[in-house]
Amino acid sequence: MDTTVFVPVDDATGAAAPDATPAVRARALTKTYGRGQAQVHALDGVDVDFDAGRFTAIMGPSGSGKSTLMHLLAGLDSATSGQAFLGSTDVTALGDKALTRLRRDRVGFVFQQFNLLPMFTAEQNITLPVELAGGSVDRAWFDTLVTTLGLSQRLTHRPSELSGGQQQRVAIARALIAQPEVVFADEPTGNLDSRAGVEVLSFLRRSVRELGRTVIMVTHDPTAAAYADRVVLIADGRIAGEISDPTPEAVLAGLDALRSLEAPVAGTAADGGTRAGA
Ligand SMILES: Nc1ncnc2c1ncn2[C@@H]1O[C@H](COP(=O)(O)OP(=O)(O)OP(=O)(O)O)[C@@H](O)[C@H]1O
Ligand SMILES: [Mg+2]
Repeated sequence: MDTTVFVPVDDATGAAAPDATPAVRARALTKTYGRGQAQVHALDGVDVDFDAGRFTAIMGPSGSGKSTLMHLLAGLDSATSGQAFLGSTDVTALGDKALTRLRRDRVGFVFQQFNLLPMFTAEQNITLPVELAGGSVDRAWFDTLVTTLGLSQRLTHRPSELSGGQQQRVAIARALIAQPEVVFADEPTGNLDSRAGVEVLSFLRRSVRELGRTVIMVTHDPTAAAYADRVVLIADGRIAGEISDPTPEAVLAGLDALRSLEAPVAGTAADGGTRAGA
């Protein structure tokens, strides 16, 4: 079945400009969990490019493979087959040591579940990656992050003493503190009220427009996605289309088109539950 909507991604190289190495690329990337009856194809041959200096949103139904794709691209999890590139580095070919270095020095990751360390304060959680890497924290940048993210009054609190939105903002500061090449953010505004959400999104967009960073963000929110330069749609572990210069309306229409393509097809009811989600 052709599941392409909007601007089709119609060749193996995606839409990247031929003269620049994309910041991030996936080639025939697959991730399969489990075996036999319980097998889940979380990613089923993904080809996609993310240009440097752009803000991309990834959208798709729950269970469609968004987090899996981000984890593989950032070297946090191993692929079943295919390749993931960060710049010209084939992440899937790296050994443990090189992977640790890559994760530490070249990518920032905001996890869907924050992953803060409970015994450390907010400030320690933010600065720890830099300190573990033996670097020194850029205090001016730290102050910019903390002020922009509204964390100045919360730096001495531990995660258990912070609201979900505050923990999310600490996780965002931690991902940005080392000024990584690429920031991956998995639903960074999922726990924020609309005002805090707008601040985070504006900040991410500014870091792309003004500081030339590359940001790849998963979101379920069409308004959040409209802050990006481009939306990549994913369904059933495959790239299903993309939207350039998205507006909330265009994103909603794209998601509707995806949903109609995903309507149950006769004969597939047996595994229809694997990807159904909240
Ligand atoms: N460790 C795992 N073991 C088995 N199956 C997994 C594992 N992690 C993810 N999956 C399955 O892979 C598929 C893709 O999961 P993934 O977390 O990437 O989805 P998602 O698009 O991020 O969903 P959501 O929007 O709910 O966060 C799902 O069917 C999920 O159940
Ligand atoms: Mg997810």
